[in-house]
Amino acid sequence: MQLEQVLFTQGFGTRHECRGLIVNGRVSVNNEILRDPYQEVQTADLIFCVDGTPWPYLEKAIVALNKPAGYECSRKPIHHPSVLSLLPAPLRNRGVQPVGRLDEDTTGLLILTDDGVLLHRLTHPKRHVSKTYRVGVKHVMTESMLQKLLEGVFLAGENQPVAATHVQLIEERIFEMSITQGKYHQVKRMVAAVGNRVHSLHRVAFGKFSLPDTLPSSRWCFINKEDLL
Ligand code: URA
Repeated sequence: MQLEQVLFTQGFGTRHECRGLIVNGRVSVNNEILRDPYQEVQTADLIFCVDGTPWPYLEKAIVALNKPAGYECSRKPIHHPSVLSLLPAPLRNRGVQPVGRLDEDTTGLLILTDDGVLLHRLTHPKRHVSKTYRVGVKHVMTESMLQKLLEGVFLAGENQPVAATHVQLIEERIFEMSITQGKYHQVKRMVAAVGNRVHSLHRVAFGKFSLPDTLPSSRWCFINKEDLL
């Protein structure tokens, strides 16, 4: 693929802007500055640098973000900045978008991708992709509350009960819970339905992927499809 096309597909601006980056000596591969926009480069395992920052060439990008509180998962946020503002411009330019949504006050693992097929697969209700949350609650979480979450609760506006697939008490007021649906405020509503109240919500896993301890709040990393499914 021509170098200009590489930069263009990876979100570095218009073709004209990408050409500018190259002819101005801002792009290197294997420590060598490449100034010819039409030079052919192999994209397999390619790592190129723009202004010294390394980027892997990725046909589709999948990103794991450790979402802080105070950010909205919408492209057009209303009350708070968008989670997209936590990502570098090339990722925003190539159109990565959140896979499902976390509430503004929910923290933890948010997956974003520009792979429309993957996004559909990860959010389709029939796929039952598991999401695990660490939930802090107002009142002591009783055995009976946990049991009810596993048995299923009715939420307003839903005609089927929704159930957790896994629950585990961590401390008196902290437990983990996995669900496979992605209904609006689902965890908060399920916890309310068993007579408690969510104080803090942190997503620790999505599909097979667990939020790495090494990824601080507000930071992101690339992941592979195989890490998720
Ligand atoms: N359930 C909620 O209530 N909120 C979230 O952000 C995610 C799941």
